Amino acid sequence: MKKVYVTREIPVAGLKLLGENFEVKMNPHDRPLTRQELLDAASDADGMLCLLTDKIDGELMDALPNVKGYAQYAVGYDNINVPDATARKIPVSNTPGVLTNATAEMAWALLFAAGRRIVESDTLMRSGKWGGWGPMQFIGGDVTGKTLGLLGAGRIGTAMALKSKGFAMHVLYTDAFQNEVLEKELGARRVEMDELLAEADYVTVHVPLMETTRHLMSTEQFKAMKRTAYLINTSRGPVVDELALVEALKTREIAGAGLDVYENEPRMAAGLSELDNVVICPHTASATVSSRDGMAVKAANNLIAMVNGSTPPDCLNPEVLG
Ligand code: DGY
Repeated sequence: MKKVYVTREIPVAGLKLLGENFEVKMNPHDRPLTRQELLDAASDADGMLCLLTDKIDGELMDALPNVKGYAQYAVGYDNINVPDATARKIPVSNTPGVLTNATAEMAWALLFAAGRRIVESDTLMRSGKWGGWGPMQFIGGDVTGKTLGLLGAGRIGTAMALKSKGFAMHVLYTDAFQNEVLEKELGARRVEMDELLAEADYVTVHVPLMETTRHLMSTEQFKAMKRTAYLINTSRGPVVDELALVEALKTREIAGAGLDVYENEPRMAAGLSELDNVVICPHTASATVSSRDGMAVKAANNLIAMVNGSTPPDCLNPEVLG
């Protein structure tokens, strides 16, 4: 029977599918494996189900010559060197679609939490120091009728923006492509980044991490935002220059931020967690029951196809399969 390695426990829906097809070995720890641990554990594997916390590059691929495919348990795949895999004719897959709404909803959760100062308020209530209603307490940002600025209008950015309908927001977006759905449904406008930063009350990041998007948001961009505006990031941490963000939050260059992702996970930039105008979540945007089940099933089906030599439904480099 062929063998597959799963680099961290995933929902049973995916493990069951794998178990019906292969001998399955899995990381027994509740932490990512080190490179050496992964190489030792997967030495006889025919395929690997990997996570965004695993660095998958040419060196690892060469050390695991039996692996016929890498199935990422995530839609983002910046941890995998896909050109290295393509050069070795190894297919790679991801899990698009099943976490779109969960991630868009998390962007909204962060937008409200940051804008309406929910975490600060909760902290005060738990401290036992609340003295009763006050006219100047926790004044935050409005949402209805305000301007939402999307950096990236792909699957998740589109879902996030469509959910703004009930708040009658003006929607601006940047993207390489025109988004007809957003333009038709919301009257959204595709603009240059300068215009978006100057106009938006909420700037929400939905671009993938690539060399061209690393530090897309840095000192200059924070200065270009309104002082009353908020930054929301559910994409990838390195898209935002985190030290520059700490400075912008400290000096109130922007009003606040809601973050689910960090530049050097699991660490955060010095000072970030001490600020009261940022809401910080531990990269849990896709952590709903149906999203995580969907990711597990998708990753398993992709891996089954790759190990059996057929094209996986979500192949990132189909050219390798001829
Ligand atoms: C993804 O799918 O890329 C998410 O970050 C995982 O939660």
